[in-house]
Amino acid sequence: MVQIAPSILAADFARLADEVARVESAGASLLHVDVMDGRFVPNLTIGPPVVKALHAVTDLPLDVHLMVEDADALLPDFIDAGSAILSVHVEACRHLHRTIQTIKAAGVKASVVLNPASPVSLLHDILPEIDMVLLMSVNPGFGGQSFIASTLDKIRLLRETIDARGLDVRIEVDGGVKASNVRQIREAGADILVAGTAVFGCDDYAQAIHALQNEGARQDKA
Ligand code: DX5
Ligand code: ZN
Repeated sequence: MVQIAPSILAADFARLADEVARVESAGASLLHVDVMDGRFVPNLTIGPPVVKALHAVTDLPLDVHLMVEDADALLPDFIDAGSAILSVHVEACRHLHRTIQTIKAAGVKASVVLNPASPVSLLHDILPEIDMVLLMSVNPGFGGQSFIASTLDKIRLLRETIDARGLDVRIEVDGGVKASNVRQIREAGADILVAGTAVFGCDDYAQAIHALQNEGARQDKA
């Protein structure tokens, strides 16, 4: 079944522990944490202390998406804070292979992110080294944007590439995911769907997560 990773960017930050407990009991598989430094993206969010605090109150694996200029400088703190997966942008990492090795050496799952304008071909050499690819389906920086339709072709190409090479790499899709497009995204080959407003923007988180899972599940049976 497709896994849903609610993005806390759309949660009520004043009641974060309660929000996380609610999505955990509602069937979330991971918790997506959007880290923005105000430089790589024009927005500023949270840092390692918040990740550490979340780690103490949830059993959900923390799926930490680093939208920062200098990921290498921040890695130790995010590793210590309890990240289960660390995603770094190909556009921000000059020595990507080294960055990935650092993450893996700490026993954390390593993931590479592609912005909408970055081609799948950039991943050719790093793909066997990583656990996940995070495909941005919006330009990073803000929640609540519309899904960029051309991402579907990218998901298909990446899925074909991973399968043809016999690799064990998950595909996560981030941005504008909602019940009305989740079937297409799943059909294209995504394994994990990030959902901010599609979960936290609803009154009933369980209903929202189930709606996303059920649309994905229809494709699983096909
Ligand atoms: C955007 C973030 C996303 C965002 C998704 O830069 O990486 O994770 O929170 O939000 P929605 O699901 O509302 O598009
Ligand atoms: Zn994200």
